[in-house]
Amino acid sequence: MSIRFFLFASLPLQPGRIAHDLVYQNDIHWKGKGVKPTVLMAMVVVVVCQSLGAQEPVKQEDRANEFVSGQVWLDANGKPIQAHGGGVLVRDNTYYWYGEDRTDRQTSVSCYRSTDLYTWKHEGVVFTRDALSEDIRDRTFIERPKVLFNPKTGKYVLWMHLEQWGYHFARAGVAISDRPAGPFTFLHHMRPVQFDFGAKDDDPDRQKEFGGTYRDMNVFADDDGKAYAFYASEGNWTMYVVRLNDDYTGPEMPMVQDKTWARILVRKMREAPAPFKFQNRYYLITSGCTGWNPNAADCAVADNILGPWESKGNPCTGPEAELTFHSQSTCVLPVTGKPGTFIFMADRWMPRRLSDSRYIWLPLTISADGAVTIPWLDQWDLSYFDNR
Ligand code: GAL
Repeated sequence: MSIRFFLFASLPLQPGRIAHDLVYQNDIHWKGKGVKPTVLMAMVVVVVCQSLGAQEPVKQEDRANEFVSGQVWLDANGKPIQAHGGGVLVRDNTYYWYGEDRTDRQTSVSCYRSTDLYTWKHEGVVFTRDALSEDIRDRTFIERPKVLFNPKTGKYVLWMHLEQWGYHFARAGVAISDRPAGPFTFLHHMRPVQFDFGAKDDDPDRQKEFGGTYRDMNVFADDDGKAYAFYASEGNWTMYVVRLNDDYTGPEMPMVQDKTWARILVRKMREAPAPFKFQNRYYLITSGCTGWNPNAADCAVADNILGPWESKGNPCTGPEAELTFHSQSTCVLPVTGKPGTFIFMADRWMPRRLSDSRYIWLPLTISADGAVTIPWLDQWDLSYFDNR
C-alpha cells in the first residue's frame, strides 16, 4: 500500500489509465504508434461490457491442459476463480490454492483443489471476516492469505494480512483448521516484531507502540520442519523474515535478531514476497511498492534464510518484463515430481473491480549458475519443463 494508491484511488475516473489497461488486455503485442484501430473498437466494447459487469471467460475445455495468463480462469464448475494474492499448499500430491475472494468488499479466503494444476475445484470459502475476533471484526478486511500444514500438530495454519481503511492496521492474523478446506478458527492478530528502527512519534502506523507493520506477506516451510513468515514491515521500507514457533501459530520465542528473525532487503521498499528454495539456496521474488500498479520484480538469493540476501535483479524476460507482465508476485510453486521446476504466480490487479483481477502463471527455471528466469508465454503446459 502506498501514497500513490491513495492518490490514485481518490482521483475521479482516469480515461488514460483505463485505455492503457484495455490496450494491454486486448493487444499486448501492438508496437505501432498510437492505438491500433481494432484495439480502439475493442476498448469501446470492453468499457461498455465492463460497466455492465460482463467478462470474457475462457471456456474450461479451451484451457483444459494449459495455462493461459491474463484471461478469466474458470473453476471446475465454470465460475471465475477467486483466489487473488494467493498461495498454493502441496499435500499428498494434491494442490490447495488459497487466495482472496474479492466478490465481496471485505474479502474472504477461498480454497481450490487440484491434482493436475490445470483444473481447480472450489472447496469453498474457508475463512471470512465474521470469524475474526470481535474487537476487529467490523472494520477489518483480509489480504494475501497463505496456509501451512504443520506435521507435528496435524493442523492447517492460515496466515493473513489483516487491514483496515487507511492501511494503518497492518497486522498478521492467524487461524487454524483440522482440514485443508477449513473452516478455519481464528486464533489471534499481532505485529510479530517490536524493533526500534527509529519510527517517528507521529507515525500513523503506531509502530513504536505496536511493533513493525505487517503488510504484504508469505509463509515458507523449510525441509527441516521450521516455517517462516516473510512480510513487508517498517511502513513497507524493509522486509522481515521471522521463524515461527513449533505449531506455526506465532513467532518463535524468545525472539533474537539474526537468530530467529531478521531485517532483510533493508530500506529497499519491496513487497509481495514469494520465497522458494532450490538445492539449499533460498530465493525471494518481490515487487516494488506502487499499490495496485505493476513494477519490476526482483529476485534475491541467500544461503541462509535469515540472510544476508543479495538482490539479483529482474528475472522476467519478454514483452513488458519491466512491469512483471503487468502483474505482481504472489507465490512461487514447486511442481511436484519435477525437481527444479517452479510456477511463478502473480496477480494482474484490476483496481476498479478487484474481483476481475487476473492470474499470471509462468514457468520459472533456475540455470546451473543459479540464474532465475521467468519468460512470458501466451500459453504453455507442464511439458515445457521436460528435458530441462
Ligand atoms: C499493494 C499490495 C496489495 C494491496 C494493495 C492495496 O501494494 O501488494 O496486496 O495491499 O497494495 O493498495
